[in-house]
Amino acid sequence: MTRVTLSGKPPRVIAHRGSSHSEPEHTLGAYLRAIDEGADGLECDVRLTADQHLVCVHDRRVNRTSNGEGIVSELELAQLEGLDWGSWKREHPDESEEPDRHHAQILTLRELIRSVLAADRPLELVIETKHPTRWAGDVERKLVSVLREYDLLNPAPDKPRVRMMSFSTRAVARFGRLAPNLQRVQLIEVGAGLRMIDFFPADLPIVGPRLGIIKRFPEFVARQHAAGREVHVWTVDQPEDVALCLELGVDAIITNRPADVRFAVSQQ
Ligand code: G3P
Ligand code: CA
Repeated sequence: MTRVTLSGKPPRVIAHRGSSHSEPEHTLGAYLRAIDEGADGLECDVRLTADQHLVCVHDRRVNRTSNGEGIVSELELAQLEGLDWGSWKREHPDESEEPDRHHAQILTLRELIRSVLAADRPLELVIETKHPTRWAGDVERKLVSVLREYDLLNPAPDKPRVRMMSFSTRAVARFGRLAPNLQRVQLIEVGAGLRMIDFFPADLPIVGPRLGIIKRFPEFVARQHAAGREVHVWTVDQPEDVALCLELGVDAIITNRPADVRFAVSQQ
């Protein structure tokens, strides 16, 4: 039996790090492509630089996704701007080729917000805070101050809908105190993370399990719906996994392949 989402509407398609199967993750090019491909929302990871800028980078180090080396939180924005964030993804990087600005530059959260505001439709912006140390609150405080600059701390129908996500229960709670009108997503992993469910605050609106959790425990989605929580699953790229999410009534599908998932949802 196919179940429905908590709202009864089709699941939303959230582009994980942009359209990151096709483009270098977290670059403006990856996000603009996701918008073109019909994503309902954009997911990004944010980290603080040494000079207190929020940048969209997943890893603690720059090594995997740029041509540089070092720890994001120990580098200044100008240093990150000097790196190439695109050539690692190109199959045959051509050194003589002029790098495409959209695909090669570090993206700041402010730049991403401006692109979301310029889109032709209200998008969801899903921001995952990553922390240099587990308990540091600086990232959430800075996030709230950047969102305030763009008047995004209170949802409105004509504005992008902003959500914060984290694996850290403390970070999620801290963000709830700083920005009580915005939604929070508690991310959970397979294994130890599953035990957190018993300790979720009753008012937690959304839970974000790794795909493996709903594959192993398909009843997870219905149980969370019964508790009034939406379920946003990551990272869902394979057709059979998208089909499982549709069958279970998952509320948001977080994917590196937004065009494919958009198509599957439209066929439902
Ligand atoms: O969307 C949640 C997901 O992004 C969490 O894992 O490692 O890809 O940030 P990760
Ligand atoms: Ca993430």
